[in-house]
Amino acid sequence: MIIGGSASQDLAAHVARELGEELCYVETRKFPDGERYLRITGEVADEVTVIQSTGYPQDENLMELLFIISNLKDLGAKKVRVVVPYMGYARQEKRFNPGETISAKIICNLIEAAGADEFITFNIHEECVLNFFDIPARNISAMPAIAEYIKQITDEKPLILAPDKGAYGFAQEISEIIGCDCTYLAKVRLGPDKVETKIVDVRCDSESENTVNVDSVKGMHAIIIDDIIATGGTIVNAINILKQYGAKSVDVCCVHGILTNNGATRIYAAGADKIIATNTLSSDTSRVSIAKSIADVLRD
Ligand code: R5P
Repeated sequence: MIIGGSASQDLAAHVARELGEELCYVETRKFPDGERYLRITGEVADEVTVIQSTGYPQDENLMELLFIISNLKDLGAKKVRVVVPYMGYARQEKRFNPGETISAKIICNLIEAAGADEFITFNIHEECVLNFFDIPARNISAMPAIAEYIKQITDEKPLILAPDKGAYGFAQEISEIIGCDCTYLAKVRLGPDKVETKIVDVRCDSESENTVNVDSVKGMHAIIIDDIIATGGTIVNAINILKQYGAKSVDVCCVHGILTNNGATRIYAAGADKIIATNTLSSDTSRVSIAKSIADVLRD
């Protein structure tokens, strides 16, 4: 049995269809004072999978997820698998400054305390967050689904670029599936919404066997890949550099399209042809479905 929270209803329906499983409906609304009402309709099966991203509004989506998990256990579910395609608060996995809350740890503790028996997420920003769980916890990559989508929409071999070295693994994953070159740019974060980006020649990188260099950008169809696009600052810088080095066209891909602060507008204004995100978060840019990836994991 599959249950979708209100942030991931469509995705849950597609997962249920992939698996040929029953989709259980959740009735949810707000009381006049803003508190949330939640009712699970129908018989609860022994094994249930809850799918709910905890992006904006993070606190409401999280509370709803906790209500669903706990209610399922109260109603007799023996095993509750929890799929959080995009996990909010995951980027605060440690104290960067004295006195800060380790938000990711609290979220993991709450999900487990509510009664989750297993946790699954996609391209979590720092995999070490999963260590906050005592239950089995898995991080799944959406890169294969993104690569398949790129193959369908691109006739020529693109150049895959990571906007920083941290995302280079994603670019490698995708370029291996597509069978094309990849490289990365160098990024320095100056503040939450300010980054500086430079081009690097990866032939200087001893860890890489890649032979792409800055000249390879000229005349190419470039595709930028990142895990998250939030304000778009990282991507705008990358687009500017790629255009400067003569890229013919630039598409932008990510797993989690948060796209806050007019991020999408800024990315299009910088010259991107397309923004392609998965449906871990629902928006106009959610073009790649991870329903099959979730179904494959649940079949394991
Ligand atoms: C950071 O390392 C992440 O991989 C993303 O590059 C970052 O979260 C994007 O943020 P923004 O879109 O605000 O630059």
